[in-house]
Amino acid sequence: MSSSSTHHHLPTSQAYDLWSQVYDTDGNVLQQLDDIYITTVLPPLITPNSTVVELGCGTGRNTLKLVEYGAGRVIAVDNSRGMLEKLVEKLGGGDERVEVFEVDLNRFYSDTTSSSTGGGSDGEEKFRKTLEGIEINGVISTLVLEHLPLSTFFSSVSKILPPTGWLLLTNMHWDMGAISSAGFLDTTTGKKVKPVSINHTKEEILEEAGKWGFVVEGGVVETGVRDLEHARGLGRRAEKWVGVLMHVGVVFRRV
Ligand SMILES: C[S@@+](CC[C@H](N)C(=O)[O-])C[C@H]1O[C@@H](n2cnc3c(N)ncnc32)[C@H](O)[C@@H]1O
Repeated sequence: MSSSSTHHHLPTSQAYDLWSQVYDTDGNVLQQLDDIYITTVLPPLITPNSTVVELGCGTGRNTLKLVEYGAGRVIAVDNSRGMLEKLVEKLGGGDERVEVFEVDLNRFYSDTTSSSTGGGSDGEEKFRKTLEGIEINGVISTLVLEHLPLSTFFSSVSKILPPTGWLLLTNMHWDMGAISSAGFLDTTTGKKVKPVSINHTKEEILEEAGKWGFVVEGGVVETGVRDLEHARGLGRRAEKWVGVLMHVGVVFRRV
């Protein structure tokens, strides 16, 4: 991966391994907009004792909300060990409602890693076995889509989620993606660390979702930093984003 005087481009899991040290504390504006959306939209989706799969759970920002809102079983996956370690720390001695697996979504559903070929990591094998014979009510994936090809993401969800199940998806908005991408300032090197990122437009997302049988339920919600007063409430890093749409959230239903 490439490096310049200001940026360090790394494979996604390596970038997040580094980011994990400050991911929960670096005042990320997108995470705050995500919190506002998730705390509104997620609770009504959770039926008592429902089973939810979380793709790209990271440090568990939303994993813990799933449990708090009443999910009976949460199966959370990510391919950054650093991010997962933070989630495991938050779970303390463990929570029997939450299972955590190290899984690379870019490989998991490709033919070459099927159990018949013996491919895949230990975490992927365990995740595959865990999914066997259980009914999943919903899938959540927040701020992950920009790191994956759309076909990889939606084909994976279509294999996990039965018809009538819900998918709650959030991502960096395409307007923000046109001028920026995920990354963080590594204070030890002074460089911006950048994982692999793809800017997906609204049309591309909805078209690919439709191919895999996902229909939008309740509309596509696009938000950003409205004005300086709004920015002040979101912290010092928000001011430069005034007027830019930064976050998109959508609930899909699999038909
Ligand atoms: C911006 S973080 C979001 C984390 C969490 N969902 C949240 O909202 O705070 C993106 C996450 O996606 C994960 N991710 C990216 N590509 C992935 C892949 N191919 N397989 C599994 N996880 C991936 C990263 O490791 C990281 O934890």
